[in-house]
Amino acid sequence: MYNKKVLDLIVYPENVGKIENADGRGLAGDPGCGDHLEITLRVENQIIQDVRFRVQGCGGAIASSSMTTILAKGKPVMEAYLITKEDIVNALGGLPSEKIHCSVLGEQALKKAILDYAKKYNTKSSLKKD
Ligand code: FES
Repeated sequence: MYNKKVLDLIVYPENVGKIENADGRGLAGDPGCGDHLEITLRVENQIIQDVRFRVQGCGGAIASSSMTTILAKGKPVMEAYLITKEDIVNALGGLPSEKIHCSVLGEQALKKAILDYAKKYNTKSSLKKD
């Protein structure tokens, strides 16, 4: 059902946890299945230096959430904001069709975390932390 890459991330997920006093925090939930995800960010010079996740959900949600953090880490915030669920699924090498929706959590929580960061540090102009 899951490919090897997905199974590896389910068993050994990367970037699990929560950043205390995070620069950005985003929550997303799937009302359809009740699963939910929290992503926290540490940003320096507009680059995502660290990103962590905590998820309650299925294997697809664990792998998708972990891949979201892998894709976002080290990227400029504006670039990370453009990460889509399709990017996440492609980076995983695909998900079973009934698990595609699990990747939505990653995209939504990451976008919310970046918007939270922008709200905290971006008063008027670009996404800039002073
Ligand atoms: Fe709900 Fe996977 S079944 S996120």
